[in-house]
Order: sequence, then C-alpha cells, then structure tokens
Amino acid sequence: MSVNEKNQLGQFIPLHYHFQMLSDTPRVQGFKSAIERVVKPHHKVVELGSGTGVLSFFAASQGAKVQSIEFNPALANASRTFLDKNGVGDRVTVIEADASKWSPEEPVDVVVCEMLHSALLREKQVEVIQSFREKHQEKFGVIPIFIPSASLLGVQPVMQDYVFEGYRAEVPLFQSPYHAAKTEEVNKPVVYQIVDYDNAIVEKHDCKATFSFNTASTFNAFRFITKNLLASNSTGSDIWDWHNQHLLFPTPGEISVEAGQNVILKFSYTAGDPIEVITDTMNITIH
Ligand SMILES: C[S@@+](CC[C@H](N)C(=O)[O-])C[C@H]1O[C@@H](n2cnc3c(N)ncnc32)[C@H](O)[C@@H]1O
Repeated sequence: MSVNEKNQLGQFIPLHYHFQMLSDTPRVQGFKSAIERVVKPHHKVVELGSGTGVLSFFAASQGAKVQSIEFNPALANASRTFLDKNGVGDRVTVIEADASKWSPEEPVDVVVCEMLHSALLREKQVEVIQSFREKHQEKFGVIPIFIPSASLLGVQPVMQDYVFEGYRAEVPLFQSPYHAAKTEEVNKPVVYQIVDYDNAIVEKHDCKATFSFNTASTFNAFRFITKNLLASNSTGSDIWDWHNQHLLFPTPGEISVEAGQNVILKFSYTAGDPIEVITDTMNITIH
C-alpha cells in the first residue's frame, strides 16, 4: 500500500495530531489503569502502533520490557526522545516497522494496541491484532493478553440538529461520548457486534439492527457507539473501559414511525473500511 493510500485510510497520523490523543484524559487514564492492572514487572510487552510512546511508558513504568512498533519514522524518532526523557528509555525498544507484518523473536505476555476508531472503521486494529495473534500462536503456541480485550459496537436512531448558524447541512459527524449537545435519543442502542480480540478476524459483516417503537417518533440520523473493554479483573467485578467518539450518519431525510412499528437498519462493512461504507450500504425499512 502506498503512503497516499495509507493517508486516505487514516493510518498515517502525524505528530501534530497526537496532542489531541494525549489530551484525551478518559483515553489515556483508561489505558493507564488497564496497563497498571495487567502488566507485571517480569512481563514482556509489545505495543503495536506506539505513536508518542505514552502507553509503552505506562507498561515500562510497571517494570516490564517493552517493544514499541511504529511505522511512522517521525513518530518512532520522537518517541525515542520522549521515552528517554521520561526515564524508561532503557526498558523500551522502539522498532520502526509495519505492525501488521512484524512478529517478536520471543513470546510476549501482553500486547497493547490502540488503533481504535469509531465503529472500528478506518484504522486497522482488527487486521493488525489478527496478524500478530496468528504469528505469535504459530511460533510459540500461546496467545498473549490483549489490551483492549474486546470492542462492543452499537447503533441507535437519534434526532440531530444539523443547522449551523442558520445553514442546514446533513453531514456525518463525530461527537464526544460525554457531551452530546444538539442530539436527542429517539430509541435505545442495539449491539450489532462484539469483537473479541482473542478471536477477531478480518471479515465482512452484514449487520442488522431492529428498533421497536412504542410511541410515534421521528429521527434523522443513526449514532454509532464504540465501547472498548480494556481490561477486567478475574471476577469481572472491576472493568476498565473507554468509549471512542460517537459517529453519526444522517439518514436520507427525516424518518417518521408510528407507535408499534419496527425500523430495520442493515449495513455491511469490514473493520478498517473507510467511513463512507456505512452511508453506501445503509438500508432502512419500516414494518
Ligand atoms: C491512534 S494512534 C495511537 C498512538 C499511541 N499508541 C497512543 O495511544 O497515543 C495509532 C498509531 O499507530 C500507528 N500505526 C498505524 N498503522 C500502523 C502499522 N501498520 N504499523 C505500525 N504503526 C502503525 C500510527 O502511526 C499512530 O502512531
């Protein structure tokens, strides 16, 4: 794949975008807590797509030996400097490589991979983890612990205000999961897929979500919800999770539903596909 194609698919995230990711407190705190829970001093850890190295830093701070795989040379270099400055340079080896092709010389205990995008579109989280898991199992006969361990994907109809200073424009949009101004929930979310990284494979999914309406309602968008299970304790009583941004797709016009009717939403995609695939495959029927 050429650099241009990677740019288009959102794989190539330059250094100046990493400030946003570093400043995303729920993201960084969620991963920090999960890594502190899972990683032990004797562990060997790999981070796939290590960017500025922040998550490798958390693993190294637990006393683990870390290999950080990053294919953007500018980021690989910057992260070496940051990791040294943060006092863990001797425990982290930054390797400039394509994480979907690389495999370790020795078995590892924990793999951290944050190439997560809303609805698992654009970024190659599933492809990279599948490739690593298969190579690791083939070489060493075991599967390491993955952080995150699973992603839960849901969708719900909403009424979205698409008027911007008097100008109406129904565009796909990203929204904070913690602050959803201008959006009204019209029905509950339906889970359309659970991705378990111990087993996840890259395949096309034909998704179907059915929404039952008890009252007459109108909606104009579907909101896609992505919640990642980063880690949990053995009883499941403590969990560490993180929501990606919600992603909203406008429907082709407002849809009005009578009380007692069902709305069936169908769409198809493969994890890592461009965002437009949802709009292109979306099919809505009312019964
Ligand atoms: C969403 S960022 C996360 C960075 C860092 N792990 C963090 O949490 O701040 C994903 C990173 O993966 C890198 N990346 C994407 N595809 C990759 C691949 N195939 N091999 C190695 N690195 C990759 C990008 O350059 C980017 O730095």
